[in-house]
Parts: sequence; C-alpha cells; structure tokens
Amino acid sequence: MAQQQQFLWWQSGIIYQIYPRSFQDSDGDGVGDLKGIISRLDYLQWLGVSAIWVSPIYPSPMADFGYDISDYCGIHPLFGTMDDFDALLAEVHMRDLKLILDLVPNHTSDQHPWFLESKSSKDSPKRDWYIWKDAKEDGSEPNNWLSVFGGSGWEWDEQTQQYYYHAFLKEQPDLNWRNPEVQQAMFDVMRFWLDKGVDGFRVDVMWHMVKDDELRDNPPNPNYKQHEATYEQLIPAYSTDQPEVHDLVEKMRKVTDEYKKRVLIGEIYLPIHRLVTYYGHDNKGTHLPFNFMLINIDWNAETIKSKIDEYEGALPVGGWPNWVIGNHDQPRITSRVGTSQAKTAGMLLLTLRGTPTMYYGDELGMRDVPVPPEEVQDPQGLNMPDKDLSRDPARTPMQWSDSENAGFTTGKPWLRVAESYRRLNVKKQQAEEESMLQYYRRLIRLRQAEPALHIGDYIPVQAKSPLLAYIRQHDSKRILIVLNLSHKPCMFRPQHERYKGTIVLGTASERENSKVDGNISLSGDEGIVVVLS
Ligand code: GLC
Ligand code: MG
Repeated sequence: MAQQQQFLWWQSGIIYQIYPRSFQDSDGDGVGDLKGIISRLDYLQWLGVSAIWVSPIYPSPMADFGYDISDYCGIHPLFGTMDDFDALLAEVHMRDLKLILDLVPNHTSDQHPWFLESKSSKDSPKRDWYIWKDAKEDGSEPNNWLSVFGGSGWEWDEQTQQYYYHAFLKEQPDLNWRNPEVQQAMFDVMRFWLDKGVDGFRVDVMWHMVKDDELRDNPPNPNYKQHEATYEQLIPAYSTDQPEVHDLVEKMRKVTDEYKKRVLIGEIYLPIHRLVTYYGHDNKGTHLPFNFMLINIDWNAETIKSKIDEYEGALPVGGWPNWVIGNHDQPRITSRVGTSQAKTAGMLLLTLRGTPTMYYGDELGMRDVPVPPEEVQDPQGLNMPDKDLSRDPARTPMQWSDSENAGFTTGKPWLRVAESYRRLNVKKQQAEEESMLQYYRRLIRLRQAEPALHIGDYIPVQAKSPLLAYIRQHDSKRILIVLNLSHKPCMFRPQHERYKGTIVLGTASERENSKVDGNISLSGDEGIVVVLS
C-alpha cells in the first residue's frame, strides 16, 4: 500500500494573526494585553482556527509599536508579565491551539543593551554587532540606501563619528548578521521561547537580514511613482535578498528543528520566483515563506488564476503553499476589494491549497478606519504624511460588542474604535445566522472537516472574468469552488465536464443544500462550494 503522507498542523491548519495592542484590553489602560487575549481564546476556539500568531509583546520603547525590541526574552509591562505569558501558552495549548510568536532578528531597538554597548565606543566588543561605517570624504552617508520609513537609511552618531544603518526607523538599528556572535545570540533567543513551548515563529523582514558586504549603492527605480513611499525610489538590490541570507535561514530552521513540530514562517515581500527560494535547498529553509499575492493582486479572475498557477508552478517539490489575506501592515481586505467582495475573498483564501493566514477582525468584515491626522500613531504615516501610508486604519481595536469602545477597553483606546461598532461586532454577528462571522465560521469548519480542502490537490477549471472556478480533490472526493468576482450576476458554463453536486456552502446561505447539474447561475459577488457527486 502506498504510504499516506502525514500532514503537520501548520499545513492542515489555519493561522489567525492577533495585533496584541488592539485585540482585548483587560486592565483599562486602553491597550490590549495578554490577559485580554486569554479571555478571548474561547472565541477563537469557537471560530475554529488552529493557531494564533501574536505580533511582538516584548519590552520595547514602541517607536514602531513593538517591532523595536529592547529585550527579546521579556514581556512588555503594557502586555503583562512572564507569568501572564506562561498562562497564555498553557491556555492556548489546553484548547488544542498553537501559539506562534513574532521574532524580529533584523534589528533591535536603539535602547537595546546590545546597541547601547555597540554605540558606546568604536572599540566596544559589540561594535561589530551592528552596521557601522565611516562617512564618505565629504561627510555624506556611506551609500545611497534608503529607510523603508522614509529618508536615509543611515544615521550619524556624533560621539563615535560613524554612521549606522537602519532599514526602518533610526530607533531600529540593523544587526550585523555576518557576525557569528549575533547569530548565536539570536538563536539563543529562539531557544528561550522554544524551551517554553511556543510552536514557532513568524520571522520579521527575513529578506532584509543580510546586506551586500561591500555595501554597494542601490540602483534607481525607473518605475518610481510620486505617490509611492520614498523608499521605492531605489531598487533594494544590495540591501535585501542577498544570497547569504539562505545560510542564515537554514541555521534558524536547524534551531527550530531541535524541537518537535515547530514552525518557521518568514515575512518576505518578493516576486514569486524569489520568494520560493526561501524554502531553501531541499526545503531546509523556512517552512512557510509568507505568500502575500492576495494582498497586491488585481482583483480579476484571469490575474488571480495566472498568479495561482505561477505560484503552484514555482513551488519546490515538497514546499508547502500558504496564502495571506491581510496583516497589520496592509489595508484590510474590505478596503482593497470592497465590502461586497469580502466574502468571496474569504472563500478564496479558505479554499485555496495551502495554509491560510487570517487577520483579526476580517472575519467580521471590519473596515479600515479613517484616523484624523492629529491622531495618527504609525511612524510610517507620520514620516511621509503626504503619501497616505499610515497603517493605523487597519490596526483599530477589535469590535466585540455594542457596549462602549466595542467592548475592547473600559479606558480610552490607544487608537480610535470604528464608529460602526454598534452594528458591526462579534456579539451581534454571533446572534445572526447570516452574518459575516457565521459565514467565516462555516467556511473554516468546512475547510477543516474536508481533507479535499485542507490537504487536497488544486485543479484549475476556468478563469474568465468575472468567474474563477477550481476543484480541490482528495482521493475520490472532489469539491468545486466557483467565485463571481464582480457585482453583476453571471452564468458558469462548464466547458469540459457537466458538474453535478450539492452546494455545501455559499456566500448566500439560501443556496446551501441545493443541487447543481450543468450550468450554474450566480448572483453578483457570489461564491459557492459544491461537493461533486
Ligand atoms: C515588518 C513588520 C512591520 C514593521 C517592520 C519593521 O514589516 O510587519 O510592522 O514595521 O517589519 O520591523
Ligand atoms: Mg491593557
């Protein structure tokens, strides 16, 4: 008998991202915290997701809301204590869920003891832990590299008369990953959390970790458009995605593999053919290089199909696919494709082949919230005010109920709550069979109940605007998914086969349990999942 392939939890499961500042506050300080997350685990279990990834909860001056870490092995008092963390991990595991932490190895906070030491003198034993460089003869920066958050990537240090490099804020100096001591220090950080029992890491900006050793200038980007971030003026050919990064990723994977059943996920914004190299030789790299295609894609059937095919074709043998619909850095799906298409988008995410990652609140249809200029918190928004790049709108508090501040906090929320919360909240949607939340829950449950959906093959069927259709298959079970990506009604006319079956799930629930045989008509924005007979 052929050996059955074994699937791991991070392959067959669903990941749910929590932005901890905004999920649930427990102590009235207006900022979400670990105890708050614990109090909402029953909700996540009810929803049916398998793992939660929590954005950084470590001590941090919060220049970039936790992505500037001053102690990798602690918990920021805003979020709670190490005891709270241990309790969270235990409660997560008790519910048979997994906990993934955010690991930020590319840079520390400028308040991290490593940087303070490195900065103290040119002879510091940790000088080489960061990227220090003399000025050019005219006093200018060592090269033309830009910061993702605007302006130069170099910051002058008066005291020691050198520049240091920071891909993000000047409060986030980049570590020098060519230094073996830096590597060991970060691997020890990984072991600290893995020893505690965390189930894996989402590695921040993995493709940034190593830079060209000669620090050569980046070439100009001929396609730069004025409305884009100033960082886009150059092609980061020498500051990111260097060949040496793969060695480091392999090492991080080895540390991960010292433990059983842990996962290593990489945040990587690169074109598909570059992205897939992060699986590493013989899949010894990251398990899941985040696939952000659904975030940037033009929302039409032909493009989506060709991108899925390109991705499927580029995956290395044994490389497991994954799909992301949103995160704390991107406009929400409702703001990208519109509220009317949000259900179809959710169906796409949860019926494609590969691990889905959801972003908190998307299951309610939460929308980007307009944040007035005087309330903007995000440094990316503040640094480039004319470019509409603030990430605050997608980071607003979770809408739990119609009580004050949507049940997120009894205090003043750190970021304003959507005005819509009285009609758009968990409590209300749990009570309505037709709600987005109940729809998402049915979709999640269906995916997890059907091997064809969580581990089956992907077979393209048709992509002709506005219709996208494909089949997921496992053993003899075949499930057909048909999505109408437009607001207008349309007819699905299968070309090669007369599909017969039963609709088991629809964006409009009244279609559920009805039979199809041959042509299928769809309303605008409608999607259906059909179990074929
Ligand atoms: C990643 C994070 C983002 C952060 C940046 C710098 O892209 O997702 O939120 O600002 O890295 O750490
Ligand atoms: Mg709090």
